[in-house]
Amino acid sequence: MLSYEDIIENLSEGVIAIDLGKKVSVFNQSAEKMSGVSRSLVIGKDLNEVFRRDVRLTEMLAKTLDEGRLFAEYEEKLHRRFGGTLPVGITTSQIFDLNGNLSGAAALIKDLSGIKSLEAGSLRKERLAYIGAFAANLAHEIKNPLSGIRGAAQLLSKKVKDESLSDYTGVIMKEADRLNNILNGMLDFARPAKLNKTEINIHKILDSTVLLLQEGLPRSAFVKTYDPSIPDVMGDEGQLTQVFLNLVKNAKEAISKDGHIQISTRILTEFHLVEEGSPGGKMVSIEVKDDGCGIKQSDLENIFTPFFTTKPKGSGLGMAISLKIIKEHGGLLKIDSTPGKGTSVTVYLPTEIGL
Ligand SMILES: Nc1ncnc2c1ncn2[C@@H]1O[C@H](COP(=O)(O)OP(=O)(O)OP(=O)(O)O)[C@@H](O)[C@H]1O
Ligand SMILES: [Mg+2]
Repeated sequence: MLSYEDIIENLSEGVIAIDLGKKVSVFNQSAEKMSGVSRSLVIGKDLNEVFRRDVRLTEMLAKTLDEGRLFAEYEEKLHRRFGGTLPVGITTSQIFDLNGNLSGAAALIKDLSGIKSLEAGSLRKERLAYIGAFAANLAHEIKNPLSGIRGAAQLLSKKVKDESLSDYTGVIMKEADRLNNILNGMLDFARPAKLNKTEINIHKILDSTVLLLQEGLPRSAFVKTYDPSIPDVMGDEGQLTQVFLNLVKNAKEAISKDGHIQISTRILTEFHLVEEGSPGGKMVSIEVKDDGCGIKQSDLENIFTPFFTTKPKGSGLGMAISLKIIKEHGGLLKIDSTPGKGTSVTVYLPTEIGL
């Protein structure tokens, strides 16, 4: 028989719970590992005393206990006992006893060190701005001669009677088209934002994305878990569709024939983000999760770099463009992947953009 204690003890997330007097009453194994502090040193002690350096964590737990404020995936740095900090996501909740009386508060602490926050550092931003301008110029320069090459190959294909030679002109045209697609992607990426915002229904976008990418997969490959209460968001329908097409296409390319792609939506009412400039308040989250090949840690660092691809025919622009579009909507993109197990990409969009 499973006991709640065993479950809490073995969660990969750290669990810290306090009682009404703000004394620590639960501190599981993962919390010990993350903080580097043994539970024997903290159980029964005052929260503020134990986490003197983690002011935000103690504040969050106190606010949850005293005011009922909940924090969802609040990004913070947890101080480790022997130096250094660990990036973590903190989610809090109040605890009630069987009679419904408030008996404490708990924080669930997720180790984010393996997760790539798409909030780019300033160096990366500069590099992207430079690459953007460079790419736009280069794309323009290449597009004209390329259409000349394609046109000439097409003319040639009409004149050439020898079938073995027309195969070659076919290859020229196909490859010219592929290059042209890449160039269009580059221009999309480099173009300054011009969002045509309307009220949009995310579920509609997701449904049409699935419809477009359904081919070649059994119906059961897609698992949709939609939260019917999510509100419309203000956004550019075409561009957001492009984002979900990219994400679902990546998932499709990562899974095996009998793999699954789970698309879930949620509304987060108290979404607090530490990053400067990010909106607080209500956010809609859309997760595209696959049970495919996953992404190696060393690749994870590069997937938002334009042209980074591990696919023979990939352009490596899908994720870079998606990130750009989501940022232009005031949102965030997070990715979590385990090689061999699968990948989860979550898009967070504010619901009150432009208000
Ligand atoms: N869901 C996923 N599962 C496994 N790997 C992924 C996933 N999403 C992205 N990747 C990795 O990130 C890389 C970059 O993705 P991105 O969408 O930017 O380009 P691409 O898919 O290679 O090419 P394109 O999107 O232009 O067809 C991919 O080549 C792949 O290695
Ligand atoms: Mg892709």
